[in-house]
Amino acid sequence: MIDVKGVSVFPEALDAAEQAALVDKLRGVAQVAPLFAPETRFGKKMSVRMTSAGSCGWVSDRRGYRYEPTHPSGQDWPGIPDLLLEIWRAVVPEARPPDTALVNFYGDGAKMGMHQDRDEADFTQPVVSISLGDEALFRVGGTERGGKTESCWLRSGDVVVIGGAARLAYHGIDRVKHGSSMLLPQGGRINVTMRVVT
Ligand code: SIN
Ligand code: MN
Repeated sequence: MIDVKGVSVFPEALDAAEQAALVDKLRGVAQVAPLFAPETRFGKKMSVRMTSAGSCGWVSDRRGYRYEPTHPSGQDWPGIPDLLLEIWRAVVPEARPPDTALVNFYGDGAKMGMHQDRDEADFTQPVVSISLGDEALFRVGGTERGGKTESCWLRSGDVVVIGGAARLAYHGIDRVKHGSSMLLPQGGRINVTMRVVT
C-alpha cells in the first residue's frame, strides 16, 4: 500500500483477467446508461464522460452537482455489477454497501480538476476508486483548497481508498498518458468510484 496524504493506493490490486472482466461489465453498464459529458455548474463541458450504476448516479449541470435516481435520458441506472461489489467488500469490509458506482471515461486529453467528493451524506463512509486502462497522474491535497499536494501515477488494476481523515481530501487527475495501456483497444482510461450516498 502506498500512502498519498492519507489516501491509500493499492497498486495492481486487480489482475489482468479481473480488469478485462470488469471492462466487459462496464460496457454492459454503458449500453443501458450511455456515457455523457456533463457540464460543471459554471456551464463548462467536462472533458471526462460519465455514467453510473446503482440506485442513484452522479450528475452535474447548471443546477449543480447531485445524485439523481435516473440517467439524464430518464432511464433507471443499471445495477452495480457483482464484481464491483466484491471488490468493495474485499477492500473496505467494515463499510456499508455502496449506493452507486460512478464510471468516468478519460479519452485523449481528458483530465479532472481538483475537487472534493462531498455530495454524499455520510463522510464516515469511504470512496473506493478503481483504475483501468491508461496511466493517470493523480494529485492529492489536503481538506482545504490550495494546500500542499502530492502526486502518484495510477495504473490499470490499481485500487484507491479515499477514507478516514482523507475522506474530504482534494484530488484530481492532471493528465492521462494516452495509449500507455493495452487494456482498452482504442486507448483511454476508465475510473470507477463506488460511494455510499445516503
Ligand atoms: C474522481 O475523482 O471522480 C475520479 C478520480 C480518478 O479518475 O482517478
Ligand atoms: Mn472525486
